[in-house]
Amino acid sequence: MKIIDLSFETELSHYKILIGKDLFKKEIFADALTGDSVFIVSNETVAPLYLEPLTSAFSDYKVHTYLLPDGEEYKTLEYWQCLLGEMIKVGLRRNDTVIALGGGVIGDIAGFAAATLNRGMSVIQVPTTLLSLVDSSVGGKTAVNHPLGKNLIGAFHQPSLVVSDISTLSSLPRRQYLAGISEIIKASIIADSEFFEWLNSNVSSILALKDPTISEMVERACRIKADIVALDAKESGVRAWLNLGHTFGHAIETCAGYGALLHGEAVSIGICLAAKFNYERQGLSKADYEKITCLIDKFGLPGKIPTGLKSSELISAMRLDKKNSSEMLTLILPAKVGRVMINKAVSVDEVENFLIKQID
Ligand SMILES: NC(=O)c1ccc[n+]([C@@H]2O[C@H](COP(=O)([O-])OP(=O)(O)OC[C@H]3O[C@@H](n4cnc5c(N)ncnc54)[C@H](O)[C@@H]3O)[C@@H](O)[C@H]2O)c1
Repeated sequence: MKIIDLSFETELSHYKILIGKDLFKKEIFADALTGDSVFIVSNETVAPLYLEPLTSAFSDYKVHTYLLPDGEEYKTLEYWQCLLGEMIKVGLRRNDTVIALGGGVIGDIAGFAAATLNRGMSVIQVPTTLLSLVDSSVGGKTAVNHPLGKNLIGAFHQPSLVVSDISTLSSLPRRQYLAGISEIIKASIIADSEFFEWLNSNVSSILALKDPTISEMVERACRIKADIVALDAKESGVRAWLNLGHTFGHAIETCAGYGALLHGEAVSIGICLAAKFNYERQGLSKADYEKITCLIDKFGLPGKIPTGLKSSELISAMRLDKKNSSEMLTLILPAKVGRVMINKAVSVDEVENFLIKQID
């Protein structure tokens, strides 16, 4: 088992990310549990696979479970309220623990429920998708969607522990697995050119889900994320790097309609757009632009805006993004493989002209 210790420079908080196989055991969770109840949040797809083995780790506790329907469309205020209602009904107290068992959707909504009930309760993230193992379970961002945009309502709420059991990847649908790889490629472009080359050399083992390649990949990607969030828990500086590909990606995801594209697929398109945008501005070399798009293509991830989307709609969605004023957009752009730049004043017109060229 690999252990990553995540300590924050600016907060009095630290926690462990445990990465390995067969981790659903008492001793893995024991130190992070307080109170006398655990409240497991999962969904109708993940629960039949992993709820029972996970529950066996909590035999000394009163266990409550709540299953949401499966899908991004249920990551809403309405379902958050249903979840809180159930937590209140079973008498959950502040020192009890919420357990999020599932992908990023469950992690985000369960984390937000834990952040808000009783003015904040402990949450343990148990991610079961590749995206959630390497990205959403680490760093404490929790949220639900609003019809006007993704993740607009939420809170920073760090988990007390992350238990990343990579055996859960064996049941993950192929498309979901591939979508998770885009966040891993993103991490390598942001901070680790050597890891980028490693990914490039290990494409076939990664696609075949071979271990120890997978464990190493998850650990390295998690470490990059942990190192960045440790410096900037509340995204006032370098944490924004992690939004590489996300400003374009969120807009594409929103305009395509939730569910048409997976989050990771929208991010891979967003990364390619951010790379092309900066290449055209001469901020990224042609060689690195091609390396980035080529690696995304090797994993079978999309790199182009889907047909039918309009540049004007994409721009409106980008303006609504939490980080953007109406006149200027903030974009995270790759400066080279292994380094990004935060560009806080990109004019809306420049981005719209660029998008028009990508669509026509
Ligand atoms: N909080 C953050 O920092 C952060 C970061 C990135 C993404 N996100 C959020 O994460 C969400 C996307 O997460 P996701 O890609 O994990 O999607 P997801 O949670 O919807 O899971 C994808 C699908 O896989 C199923 N599934 C999960 N684990 C499985 C398993 N082991 N075996 C079989 N099926 C399994 C789920 O039921 C679902 O159908 C988005 O809502 C996004 O906004 C949050």
